[in-house]
Amino acid sequence: MALKRRIFGLFIIIFLLVQWVCFTSDEEKAVQGKNGVVVSVDQYASQIGIDILKKGGNAVDAAVAVGFALAVTYPAAGNIGGGGFMIIRFPDTRESVAIDFREMAPAGATPNMYLDEKGKYERTKSYLGHLAVGVPGTVKGFELAMQKYGKLPWEDVIAPAIELAENGFVLNKRRAKALNDLKQLKKIPKDFEVALSKSKEFFRIFSKPDGSEFAEEDVFVQKDLAESLKLIADQGSEAFYEGKIAELIARDMEKHGGLITNDDLARYEAFMREPVKGNYRGYEIISMPLPSSGGTILIEMLNVLEGFELGKMERYGQEALHVISETMKFAYLDRAKYMGDELFDDIPVKRLISKEHAQSIRENIDLNRTIPSAEIGKDILTIEEAEETTHYSIIDKDGIAVATTYTLNGGFGSFVIAEGTGIILNNEMADFNMKPGYTDDKGLIGTEPNLIAPYKRMLSSMTPTIIVKNGKIVMITGSPGGRTIINTVLNVIINVIDFNMNIQEAVNGYRINHEWMPDILRVEKEGILEEVIDSLKSMGHKIKTTRSQGDAHSIFIDLKTGIYYGAADKRSSGSAIGY
Ligand code: DON
Repeated sequence: MALKRRIFGLFIIIFLLVQWVCFTSDEEKAVQGKNGVVVSVDQYASQIGIDILKKGGNAVDAAVAVGFALAVTYPAAGNIGGGGFMIIRFPDTRESVAIDFREMAPAGATPNMYLDEKGKYERTKSYLGHLAVGVPGTVKGFELAMQKYGKLPWEDVIAPAIELAENGFVLNKRRAKALNDLKQLKKIPKDFEVALSKSKEFFRIFSKPDGSEFAEEDVFVQKDLAESLKLIADQGSEAFYEGKIAELIARDMEKHGGLITNDDLARYEAFMREPVKGNYRGYEIISMPLPSSGGTILIEMLNVLEGFELGKMERYGQEALHVISETMKFAYLDRAKYMGDELFDDIPVKRLISKEHAQSIRENIDLNRTIPSAEIGKDILTIEEAEETTHYSIIDKDGIAVATTYTLNGGFGSFVIAEGTGIILNNEMADFNMKPGYTDDKGLIGTEPNLIAPYKRMLSSMTPTIIVKNGKIVMITGSPGGRTIINTVLNVIINVIDFNMNIQEAVNGYRINHEWMPDILRVEKEGILEEVIDSLKSMGHKIKTTRSQGDAHSIFIDLKTGIYYGAADKRSSGSAIGY
């Protein structure tokens, strides 16, 4: 009897131990897959991606299906009325490509279009309403990706999104809250009110007819969007750029003082681009070239950090944080000074990603004190971008990897939906430099390369990235977060390469951000010990905390076992699915 009791007791202890281990390590555990993994912000979208893979689609089919699905289920950032970037890597040919479907300025855009008669920048105009909208790129970008690399028919990758828009999807707590929060927008300053008065269609669609609050478990239906998606499924991108949708967008623009015309839409093209590439401690970094600053600045920062023995430092200790923060500061100064659409200006990308340039930055980093941003460049500053955009990572059974980051810019973009389309339009024009020649320390930047011009693409920070070792794909990553994006991606990469974290730990790990200007080192709340903060302050750092930085849904591939590990970012309770 006693023995039985003892065995039973032992069994209970083992059971509890197993439970405890499973429970406590869950947060740090990535989802596994042998045949494919999809990691995105949304469970519907990730499931759709997996279904497409199981149906015989490849990672590109899945990426496009996920992109269309997010336009329905994650309307704050998922989109067909915005733009973005996709990096694809093929394991057999070892070829990597970048697809640029960034928005462009319409023909009528001018460098001074957001200044009032006195030359003052009118921020609201560039953020809300019809004038804030750039010519969208997503539909052309997805079509280009499918034409070049997709295996399934175009309609098949849009069908799941049509179903979700037509019959609705169940709101979770976060999505219901995001929709309810939209009401707050109406209680804001006068100029916002004026801008939002043009957003009737938006508020009609994103409110309940009886004015009540959205609740968790509500089914959210978007009939107009379903119709637009059907047109795109039937007619391809032509429906959006030259057909009925183009007509409706151009009409709405004309009615409400926007600039986008039929001709602007018809002219829009998505481009294949050569990714920007660098090497970091034996890993090849493949990322987004211009018109994103993301890949270039990421590689510049990694080049600088390569000269420091990061792996021997405490991850969240004073030494590492100082070096990383200074690196960010110098690289973001270059971003602000030199970067913009290369079709309009010569941008010194080659120099910026050279090891020599990194060496010259290292020589300027003082290990004992922080160098004030104003001391290294007196001529620039950047605008706070809203924290909405979304990134997703996919790998399929053949090892084709896709990193996609796309956006409306601010959450819900410009708050404009052209009547009859159900499509939220972006406010990407706000990514241009607003006031020519004028840069202050509050967020305005006026350097030449990113000034507004007709058909120009506004500078982005989106950094979809694929990392390769000895020719084999080991990691797929990227993030939202405006200008913080490049730093978020940097944080994740060094967590894996220098600090030996598994992908889930690397994604969960606390992040820091320095953008040159404002001259502030931002750290995620509670991430760093008080005494470390104090010692950084004594070196001159101005430190602020932020609740959360980025949302880096990432994948890691174990080259020994071939197992894929998908890590959803805990910050957004995203969804990683493998099979
Ligand atoms: O292209 C860019 O860099 C910005 N429009 C992205 C905005 C963004 O990430 C907002 N998000 N969280």
